[in-house]
Amino acid sequence: MGIIEGPDAALLKENHLSAELTRLRTGLRAARERRVTQPGSSARTAILRGAKVALHSPGSSRSDLDIYIYGFQKNMIQRPVLMLFCGLPGSGKTTFARERERETGAIRFSTDEWMADLGIDFFDEMRDKLQVRLNELWKELLEHGQSVILEDGTWKREERDALRRVAKRLNAITEVHYFDVPFAELWRRLELRNANPTYGTVPITKELLEESLRRLQRPDMGELSLFDRCVVHSW
Ligand SMILES: Nc1ncnc2c1ncn2[C@@H]1O[C@H](COP(=O)(O)OP(=O)(O)O)[C@@H](O)[C@H]1O
Ligand SMILES: [Mg+2]
Repeated sequence: MGIIEGPDAALLKENHLSAELTRLRTGLRAARERRVTQPGSSARTAILRGAKVALHSPGSSRSDLDIYIYGFQKNMIQRPVLMLFCGLPGSGKTTFARERERETGAIRFSTDEWMADLGIDFFDEMRDKLQVRLNELWKELLEHGQSVILEDGTWKREERDALRRVAKRLNAITEVHYFDVPFAELWRRLELRNANPTYGTVPITKELLEESLRRLQRPDMGELSLFDRCVVHSW
């Protein structure tokens, strides 16, 4: 499917927009209902199917191309979410991110997993280059209305501020998760994880964990309230 322009693009213009939005809302409702009865189908697929149902309703004479356009238009109506994390190694970021990924269909970014996939040592200098490219990629996805989960823990306030600014610029909802877990519990979990490492998991020594703790800038309530949504995971 190529770039949408010409008469097809005109479909999206003002005089049609209101009627089409009503149609789409009907589709979204149908999709939500269907999602309840069809466990396992991803939300995105259900919404697109719902849009198709609406577009094929009596009186509608839309082509496949129109349906394609509406799949994207939905992205402009529903603001995407940028989910970001603040938490030390072992605080449960990956575990939580995987669950949210499964539930929401958001795209999860884990730099460690990419390094593992590429067969590169976790501490190789290539990491910085990869990170630059991944940053471009998730921004592009967000711009196209796709929700994104940034799994790597942001330890510095300025990193989180910068991410929030990007999300606002791209009209995304900002959601921060702070994993507040005591050192002893972190080390207990990490000792277990180090002994049985799962894929894409960096081994963390006690010294590395102590160093992380020194570098962590905990978000306070003032900062958390700057996000559209915030969740503190206390242990
Ligand atoms: N809420 C929790 N309570 C107890 N153990 C947990 C919890 N969340 C994760 N874990 C375990 O702790 C370890 C570290 O979790 P992980 O998600 O890998 O943390 P992170 O990605 O922040 O380094 C894993 O072995 C995981 O199974
Ligand atoms: Mg992790």
